[in-house]
Amino acid sequence: MAARGNFSSRIGFIAAAAGSAVGLGNIWGFPYEAGAGGGAIFVLVYLFFCFALFFPVMLTELAIGRKSGRNAVGAFEALGHKKWNFIGKLGVLSGVLILSFYNVIAGWAFGYTFEMAAGNFEVTEHFRAYTTNIFAVGSYGLLFMIATAYIVSKGVSEGIEKAAKVLMPSLIIMMFSLIIYSLFLPNAMAGIKFFLLPDFSKLTSTVVFNAMGQAFFSLSLGMGTFITYGSYIKKNDNLIGSAALITLTDVGIAITAGLMIFPLIGFISGGSLSGVGRGPELIFVTLPHIFGEIGPTAGAIVGMVFFLLLCFAALTSTVSLLEVPVSYVVDEFKLSRKKAAWMMSGIVYLIGIPSLMGNGYSSYFSEFITYIGADQPTDFLSFIVNIANDSFLPLGGALMVFFAVHIWKKENMEAEIAAGFENYENSWIRKYLRFVMPVLLPGTLFIIFSMIVLSTFFGF
Ligand code: TRP
Repeated sequence: MAARGNFSSRIGFIAAAAGSAVGLGNIWGFPYEAGAGGGAIFVLVYLFFCFALFFPVMLTELAIGRKSGRNAVGAFEALGHKKWNFIGKLGVLSGVLILSFYNVIAGWAFGYTFEMAAGNFEVTEHFRAYTTNIFAVGSYGLLFMIATAYIVSKGVSEGIEKAAKVLMPSLIIMMFSLIIYSLFLPNAMAGIKFFLLPDFSKLTSTVVFNAMGQAFFSLSLGMGTFITYGSYIKKNDNLIGSAALITLTDVGIAITAGLMIFPLIGFISGGSLSGVGRGPELIFVTLPHIFGEIGPTAGAIVGMVFFLLLCFAALTSTVSLLEVPVSYVVDEFKLSRKKAAWMMSGIVYLIGIPSLMGNGYSSYFSEFITYIGADQPTDFLSFIVNIANDSFLPLGGALMVFFAVHIWKKENMEAEIAAGFENYENSWIRKYLRFVMPVLLPGTLFIIFSMIVLSTFFGF
């Protein structure tokens, strides 16, 4: 097992794990969800879910990973419950599916970096034409996948940890410089107010539901990312402290992304915040247009920095998504890490091709399926999002928590958490975990899973 590799330091592990969590979900997804979901009220609900409910899921994954010292599938066997390794297999499948479309979007962002640098703000109006040109965006996606595979092939400390230690601080520096810039634009404060002052009348069940899904995805939960990363850490690390730091970083970066983007929206709308596309098109359509308005040189610089930081955020996430299946085949099929990384990424890239073609190029994949009760067809990429993100992740999370408490047994999980955490026996966190983990948490996740499946695919 010595050949598996380890994180060389706690800070390296935190950087890599936080790097997994921080991604397109924070910088693209979070601001647009917050924009569509009433602003600050969405942020509040999101914070509640991250800390009160999903933090224990992260802890569960880390404990399973560290105790077993194995990949997301092998971990269940190592703990003596081979029958339950279907949970890990579901996780590996989710990882492959998520990476297949995630890389397509990362490829768009990568291409935008060059478009902005060249001052081509026109892509805004022609976003559809941009994604339809699959040979160009497919090449950017391919380069992105190659970068991901290269980092993973180098191993845990020499690849994943080293990359995260460079990418994460650069990301933070770029974000803060952009915030300072955007805060000085006219009407920046109107955007900040919308983002930070909650309007409780906007609290609806849709807002709660979206905030929950956003929190779960943003924390990279439900597919064994943290089982895998947890298997590379030392016995005496404090798991609770690590999970807290990872969650705080993830939430902190999401909020920072909002502080960077909403002033821009305040600026472009003259302070009214209306008439600005705040849906998924926020990043790829609205922002470049705003960069164009800022002026040709400043806009090109700000735009380029923005998309570069988006790529950096996405890269540490794609690395973690690839690492889950790679560590599975390395451990279980004794493949070399190098072979596994290149082979897996090749397979995932091929699986991503329909997602690539489903944004205008191929009408078959663009109108792939019409769910029961829906009046509009769903494109292939969104279909995979509905299956993997929306359905598999909450199901995987529910099963993992259920497994840890009832099959592996809570005493064993607690012993793993207590190693490295002084006085766990008498802590409030132990009481809290004993309160939420047996029924409430897996139950909630299972209900979410059932509701999503029924409402998305069967029109309830
Ligand atoms: N959390 C990342 C984001 O916000 C994406 C991600 C990476 C992820 N690994 C994951 C999501 C595992 C779910 C599961 O963009």
